[in-house]
Amino acid sequence: MVNDSKSIKTKGKRLNQLAQQITTLDTSPLYVYRMENKYKPVFGEGNPDADIMFIGEAPGAKEAETGRPFVGRAGQYLDSLLSSIDLKREDVYITNIVKDRPPSNRNPHTAEIDIYAPFLCKQINIIQPKVIATLGRFATAFIIDLFRLPQAGKKIGEIHGMIMHTTTDFGKVNIIPLYHPASVFYNRNLAAFIEKDFHTLKLLS
Ligand code: URA
Repeated sequence: MVNDSKSIKTKGKRLNQLAQQITTLDTSPLYVYRMENKYKPVFGEGNPDADIMFIGEAPGAKEAETGRPFVGRAGQYLDSLLSSIDLKREDVYITNIVKDRPPSNRNPHTAEIDIYAPFLCKQINIIQPKVIATLGRFATAFIIDLFRLPQAGKKIGEIHGMIMHTTTDFGKVNIIPLYHPASVFYNRNLAAFIEKDFHTLKLLS
């Protein structure tokens, strides 16, 4: 127990140091847009020692205003999905690939993904989750490529809810691709899939 709390503290400290580096990342293509709009970078939040790590795409307006991931409409839906499997935000860790808001919530550009990717990789290595749940096609493609999984190039519609396995420097990790919570606002039919996939996720934790 003493060790546990010590490791949470150390992980939290390391995450805070990493978050600081993003604050001053003026080489990011999104840095000027952040400053012009008085936005905040959105590093991620939750339990530094979480078993489950959620990875989304990029912050929207509410997230960039508050500096917190998934606090807008998609975030409220994510909260209800978590609660449907008896989890709270504080139990898990939530972050995005891209840590600054892209203008008008457009899809992230490759250069933007590339500049924030090392930070995401470090977050994964610090937290050492047992499960990585990717939210949407960008996070899914990124993680599949990162771990060189055989599902490369597959569409989210083909692989959502599928459990993939990888071995990292810190042990075995299960990866589960999920539809992005916001996708349900465009296609109500996806709600049944995302809700079922969260129950699959629960079995992993
Ligand atoms: N969509 C995302 O992918 N991330 C957020 O933080 C909010 C909305």
